[in-house]
Amino acid sequence: MGVLTKVATIGQLEPGAAICVEVEGKQIALFNVDGNFYALDDRCSHSGGPLSDGMCDGTVVTCPWHAQKFDLKTGEPQGPLPVHGVTAYSVMVEGDELKIEIPSSDG
Ligand code: FES
Repeated sequence: MGVLTKVATIGQLEPGAAICVEVEGKQIALFNVDGNFYALDDRCSHSGGPLSDGMCDGTVVTCPWHAQKFDLKTGEPQGPLPVHGVTAYSVMVEGDELKIEIPSSDG
């Protein structure tokens, strides 16, 4: 089980928008795609570009630095570069609050 942490309110994140939030020292990109919320590590696995500044096409975000794409649901790389994925987090909506589940440990 992970730890649920409030990171934003729905009003802070309009459809089509993304913000960077900090949870337990991690920078996490939070996305609103047509009212569905997704969270990924904000640092691109290629060279650390800020994914919260990337452009979204459906549920794929393109890194603003060298155009690597990642699936918002899974963090899996979608090309064009040979990089590994980024961590995807579960986003819970409770009332008007957005909460991210951070795994308590890897084990
Ligand atoms: S830093 Fe993201 S594609 Fe290079």
